[in-house]
Parts: sequence; structure tokens; C-alpha cells
Amino acid sequence: MATCIITGVGSGIGKATAIMLSHRGYYDHYALIGRNAADMAATAAAMSCNIPAAAIHTYNLDLSAPEGIPEVVASIVATTGSIDALLNIAGYTDPQPLLTTSLESFELTYRVNVYAPFMLMRECVKYMKTSGGKILNVASTAGMTPRPGWLSYASSKAALISISETLTAELSEYGIMVYCVSPGRCATKLRRRLAPDEDPSTIMQPEEVAEVICNLINPAEKCLDGQNIVIRKMINR
Ligand SMILES: NC(=O)c1ccc[n+]([C@@H]2O[C@H](COP(=O)([O-])OP(=O)(O)OC[C@H]3O[C@@H](n4cnc5c(N)ncnc54)[C@H](OP(=O)(O)O)[C@@H]3O)[C@@H](O)[C@H]2O)c1
Repeated sequence: MATCIITGVGSGIGKATAIMLSHRGYYDHYALIGRNAADMAATAAAMSCNIPAAAIHTYNLDLSAPEGIPEVVASIVATTGSIDALLNIAGYTDPQPLLTTSLESFELTYRVNVYAPFMLMRECVKYMKTSGGKILNVASTAGMTPRPGWLSYASSKAALISISETLTAELSEYGIMVYCVSPGRCATKLRRRLAPDEDPSTIMQPEEVAEVICNLINPAEKCLDGQNIVIRKMINR
């Protein structure tokens, strides 16, 4: 029985991915990790139109406290029997320039965007190393080019790109593929914090990013790991 763990399922790209994956039939169990129980329940309800409710498992966890991750991962394995895919989609931003960035805000951004994916990967690989599997990290184009005013967010995503590239090489001996995707502008809550005045109808929609993630996480996909894959939509397409 194959299991896929997904973070950030309460909204945006994570929610769209979880629902889309429930149509695809790649995995038998889905372990959803989120910090808002009502949002997670709404995602699980939408998924259960396509798969049995018993295949969906929800775990309440604030990823800014990644110390709680080992217990959750152990609990997922105890319930479903394996871990075959991990999608690190949750993300946080508090866009500030250097002089107004507090240590607390910088650290919170890194806790959610870097420490939590690190801990999830480490704990999941303990189980995945005997059977192989897939890990996918959602970074950002903000991690690739300078973003004045978004210091902590952009640098945290640069770290996630680097971690993904390192682990692609390090984990290949276990048959574990590591993907990294860097979306451009996508109409979500997080994007609204970064660009409050933007018209969301003019940019990528969460389902368009989810489509790429679902294609990569298809167990039949064997060739696109180890790269930072930019997901960007040309205007008017
Ligand atoms: N939208 C874009 O333009 C864009 C571009 C490039 C990359 N990304 C990346 O895409 C990913 C998904 O973001 P999104 O755009 O879909 O935005 P979103 O709708 O705001 O989703 C972010 C998700 O992360 C969760 N999250 C944040 N802090 C958390 C914490 N401490 N513990 C647990 N969960 C937490 C949020 O939960 P709550 O609802 O509880 O806050 C939410 O479900 C992020 O990694 C983001 O950096 C987005």
C-alpha cells in the first residue's frame, strides 16, 4: 500500500494538489499535514468524492515547530505501513526589507520553509530508504533571482533549492528521487501577502501548478528529478 504525505493542504497549491492527486490513483493513502483543522477537513472532503474517506488521514501540526515531525511521521507509518512520496508544499512569508526584518520573523520563515522540509525529509527517508520513493519540494522563482524587500522568504527558498539538489545526489542510492519546483506568480493567500495590489485573475492559478506537481509525482515519471523546474505561465495563454 503506497502512501503520499502532503503539507500545506489547507489552501492554494497544496489544496489543489491534494484534490487533483485524489483523481489520479497513484497512491493508496494520503497523509495530509496542516495546522488548520477546518481547512484540512474541507480538502479531505473534496478528495473523498474520488477516493474512500478511509484512505485520507489528517494530522494537525504547526510546521513552525518542526520538533513535532518525528512523532507525526512515525504515526503515519504505523497507520498506513509505508511512505512512498513526500510533498513539501507549505510555505510562509513575511516580506520585509533588511532594516525591518526581526530575528523572530526571519527564524519563523526558515522554520516553516527550510527546517520543516528538512525534518520531514530526514524522518521520511528513514522509512523510504528500503523501498525508494519520491520527494518534491516547492521552492520559488524568488529563490533564484534577487527580490529586494523579501529577504527572509527569497533566501529560504534559495536554501530549499540547494537542499533539493544536494539530496538528489545523496539519496539516489536508495532509489529516492528528489524534485524541486519553483513556481512564479500564482493566485493564492501567500501571493496576496507578497503583492497585495495584484489582480489574481491575471496570474497562474493553483490548479495549473498542481498539474505539474501531479505529473512529476506520478510513479511512472523517472527523468525529471535533480533540476529546479520553473513553473511559469506566459501572459494571455
Ligand atoms: N503563490 C505563489 O505565487 C508562489 C510562488 C512560488 C512559490 N510558492 C510556494 O508555494 C507553496 C504553497 O503556497 P501557496 O502559494 O499555495 O499559498 P497558501 O495558499 O498561502 O498556502 C500556504 C500553505 O502553507 C501553510 N502553512 C503556512 N505556515 C504554516 C505552518 N506554520 N504550519 C503548517 N502549515 C503552514 C498554510 O496554512 P494556513 O492556511 O494555516 O496558513 C497554507 O496551507 C509555498 O511553499 C509557497 O512559498 C508560491
